[in-house]
Amino acid sequence: MAAFVLPELYKESSDITYVGAQYMLEKYKNLIKWKEDASIFEFGVGDGSHSRQLLWPLFPRKYKEFIATDLSKTMVDFAKNNQSASRAKICNFDITCENVPYDYRSRFDNIFSIFTMMLVRNPEQAFKNIHTMLKSNGQTFNIFPLTLPTDDIYMKLSHHAKWGKYDHKVMVTPYSSQSHPQECYEKALRDAGFRNYHYMIQNFCYMFKNEKEWKDFMFSVNAVAGNIPAEEIEEYKEYFFELIDKEVLLEDNKTFDSEGRKCRFVKLRLSLLEAIKTRD
Ligand SMILES: C[S@@+](CC[C@H](N)C(=O)[O-])C[C@H]1O[C@@H](n2cnc3c(N)ncnc32)[C@H](O)[C@@H]1O
Repeated sequence: MAAFVLPELYKESSDITYVGAQYMLEKYKNLIKWKEDASIFEFGVGDGSHSRQLLWPLFPRKYKEFIATDLSKTMVDFAKNNQSASRAKICNFDITCENVPYDYRSRFDNIFSIFTMMLVRNPEQAFKNIHTMLKSNGQTFNIFPLTLPTDDIYMKLSHHAKWGKYDHKVMVTPYSSQSHPQECYEKALRDAGFRNYHYMIQNFCYMFKNEKEWKDFMFSVNAVAGNIPAEEIEEYKEYFFELIDKEVLLEDNKTFDSEGRKCRFVKLRLSLLEAIKTRD
C-alpha cells in the first residue's frame, strides 16, 4: 500500500501537484455536479493543503458534510492539524477496502481525489467502492497522472539485492506495463457499474524551482521511505537519487537554465476521470 509517511516534506515541496490539479480544475470544474446540501467525500487527502486551497472554494455554500480521508494515519494526523476552521471530518480510510462501512453506502453526492488514483493498488476495487458509496446520480471526479516517470525506477528497486525486500512495487502505477492504461481505467470503471463517464487527458509539464524542491518532492512521495531503518536511510537516499538522476527525465536533465543551473522537468499525462452513478 502506498501510504505516504512524510507529510511535512510533502506539504513544503508539492507545488507540482497544486499546479497540476489547479490546471485540470480550471479546465474541467464546470463538469462538477453540485447539490446545495451535498454530502462530499475525498480519498487521498494527503496533508490537506490542496483540498483546502483548490476544492473547498468550489463547494456549495450550504453543503451538508465533508469527509476527507487517507490511507496513511500519519497524513491524517497531520491533516487534522493543518485545517483551519474546517468543517471537514478527517479520518483514516482505504478506498480499496474489502467492505465499505455500512454508513458510507449510498451516502455521497460527490467523491473527489487529487493525485491519488495512480497510487491506488487496486483501481477495480476502488471504483466498486466508489460506486457503492455514491447516491444515485452522485458523481466521482478524479485528477491523476496516467502513469509516472518513476515507474521504472521503483520496478528496478523492487528487484534490487539490498532494497528489494521493501515493497517498492506499491509505488508503480497499476497499469504502467499496459500499452493503453487509459483503457484499463475505463474498463475498471465500467466493470464497477459506471455507464456515464468522461475521461480526458492533458499533457502537463512542471519545472521545479530548484534542486531542493525537486529532491524534497521526489523523496516525499516515496511511500517506501517509512519502511527503511533509520541507520540505512542515508545510503538508501543516495542510491535512490543516483537512480533517478540516471534514469528519469534524461532528455530534460540535459537542459540548463540561463544561469547554468540544471532544470528539472516532469512531464505528465494528467487524467480527468468523471463518472456518474446512474442506478443502484
Ligand atoms: C500524492 S498524495 C496526494 C495528496 C493530496 N490529494 C494532494 O493533492 O496533495 C496521494 C495520497 O494518497 C494516499 N493513498 C494512497 N493509496 C490510497 C488508498 N488506497 N486509499 C486512500 N488513500 C490512499 C497516500 O497516503 C497519499 O497521502
